[in-house]
Amino acid sequence: MATEMSMSEKADELELKMSDELDVILTKSALANMEDGQLGAIGMGIHEQRKHPGKLFLIDDDPRLPKMPDKPTLLDFFEYRMRGANHLLQSATHALKAGMDEKIILACLIHDIANGLFIKSDHGYWGAQLVEPYVDEEVSWAIRAHQALRFFPDESVGYTYPVLYTSYFGADYEPDQYIKDAYERARKHKWYMTARLITVHDIYSFDPNAVVSIEPFVDIVGRHFRQPEEGLGWDNSPSSHMWRTIRRPTKYL
Ligand SMILES: [Fe+2]
Ligand SMILES: [Fe+2]
Repeated sequence: MATEMSMSEKADELELKMSDELDVILTKSALANMEDGQLGAIGMGIHEQRKHPGKLFLIDDDPRLPKMPDKPTLLDFFEYRMRGANHLLQSATHALKAGMDEKIILACLIHDIANGLFIKSDHGYWGAQLVEPYVDEEVSWAIRAHQALRFFPDESVGYTYPVLYTSYFGADYEPDQYIKDAYERARKHKWYMTARLITVHDIYSFDPNAVVSIEPFVDIVGRHFRQPEEGLGWDNSPSSHMWRTIRRPTKYL
């Protein structure tokens, strides 16, 4: 006698629950739509609403996404909104094992946060802006600069042009002028080495058997990331709106 629900029953129940919950009209932002090669936001306006009699537009959390705590922390965003945290954990673990300063370890842990939960294009810039109100200026500066520094070797620390970039972008790829300019500026900056160390620990090859976890970094985050009491998004910082949008990407307005 099977007292527990089978996997397929569980899936059916979930689907049923989802369709109930999805008794709202979802819209898609212009940016998300552009990522599909189309212009403009979609699914908006009274005409769209008429296609779904009795339904209202979503103006809250998206029921399809994991439910977030009311007052989310950075680590909640890792848990409930991120895909690809493994690369960040590997980088931070690499930095930890190399005996790096905690500030560098934190920078490694969040250097690609934009890729994991927000926007990929110009990710270093978006990621820096996202965390800027909560970290030491040196950390956000370094996250911004790693975007450009990744393309330029520095033999003094054994950093070479990533082999993967050659296979990703071709052997003839040349970074845009603004990236070259950003590199030149960063090279002369007092925090150059902080950003450079992100690139040193920004590894794509890692022991596949290594077990990485957020655990060793919880205290470091606690010491170096100024978690707002109200929760990220509700704290009226210059990037709060970005955290809110990550929480509620399909909110109508
Ligand atoms: Fe990156
Ligand atoms: Fe990275």
